[in-house]
Amino acid sequence: MLRNTSRLARASPVACSAPSLRTSAGSARRLYTTDNSTHGVKTLGVVGAGQMGGGIAQVASQVAGVRVVLVDSQQAQLERALQTMDHFLAKNIAKGKITEQAAQETKSRIAISTDVAKLQEADFIVEAASENVLIKEKIFKELARVAKPEAILASNTSSISITKIGAFTPRPEKVVGMHFMNPVPIMQLVEIIPGLATSEHTLSTTLALAKAMGKTTAQSDDRPGFIANRLLCPYLNEAINALQDGLGSREDIDTTLKLGCNMPMGPLTLADFIGLDTVLAIMRVLHSELGEDKFRPSPLLIKYVDAGWLGVKSGKGFYDYAKKQK
Ligand SMILES: NC(=O)c1ccc[n+]([C@@H]2O[C@H](COP(=O)([O-])OP(=O)(O)OC[C@H]3O[C@@H](n4cnc5c(N)ncnc54)[C@H](O)[C@@H]3O)[C@@H](O)[C@H]2O)c1
Repeated sequence: MLRNTSRLARASPVACSAPSLRTSAGSARRLYTTDNSTHGVKTLGVVGAGQMGGGIAQVASQVAGVRVVLVDSQQAQLERALQTMDHFLAKNIAKGKITEQAAQETKSRIAISTDVAKLQEADFIVEAASENVLIKEKIFKELARVAKPEAILASNTSSISITKIGAFTPRPEKVVGMHFMNPVPIMQLVEIIPGLATSEHTLSTTLALAKAMGKTTAQSDDRPGFIANRLLCPYLNEAINALQDGLGSREDIDTTLKLGCNMPMGPLTLADFIGLDTVLAIMRVLHSELGEDKFRPSPLLIKYVDAGWLGVKSGKGFYDYAKKQK
């Protein structure tokens, strides 16, 4: 089913915001760019409509002005992504950053589907499904079958080798890492990761698309966790170890890092916000690929994920979010 989203209700129960951060999608200068002369992307496919995929779809439509087909295996996730999008757009309208009409146009360019075959028109596809190499293998093999031969296939993976993902397809030169940050409409950076076989054309198209989406790019070599998560996730993991060891309460740990070290949010809050399953998956990649004890996932993190306490997205992590989601 391919469905246009423009008629969806505006109210959203899901709030993914980092109030202390400036909005890049909110900059009037960057809105409604329709110039696709450098990246050549008319239709963008996004696979995975979780915390990241919905934001990527929104910014591609709102800022770069491209058509978007957003695909997820779960219809409920697609609906939830649209609600989150409505929430962000409504906030932008309320702040006078965009007009009601611009918000409608943003939504009218986005279609949703549970069928990957609907991506056959896409010039560029960003995979943003769960951080699991088996899921990514299945998706990239499928994308290699359904996407047009010239389409570029990007992964939003936080840690998995782009070279390995490229090798799942017969077109590794067209596979690249495009690592957006959470929440996508607000965070400025996209980390770009060429795999061993990624071509110059794929890289330059990806850089141009990120720019058209109003983002700043940094390039990382293709190593586990790239730059962002090689540095960030061991810090989050150690904060969870500190909680487990009784070094301080969750509030003490977060307040110390927030007010004492000027972090925008405490590490336990940030881990909840990213998703504890995603943090654990990244730590497992770092630990198994780099082999050092310092990357061993915290037992408490494993326990929380086993319990289904995944943070904001499940309503419970180190903190309770059930009330906020209602
Ligand atoms: N959460 C973050 O802060 C963050 C930041 C940067 C990058 N990432 C990366 O982005 C990707 C997605 O993360 P997220 O936080 O959005 O996860 P999420 O759990 O919020 O969403 C994952 C989505 O993938 C969908 N999915 C799973 N298997 C699928 C399949 N076979 N086909 C289609 N859809 C499928 C799920 O239904 C779900 O909607 C991961 O690779 C993650 O590492 C996450």
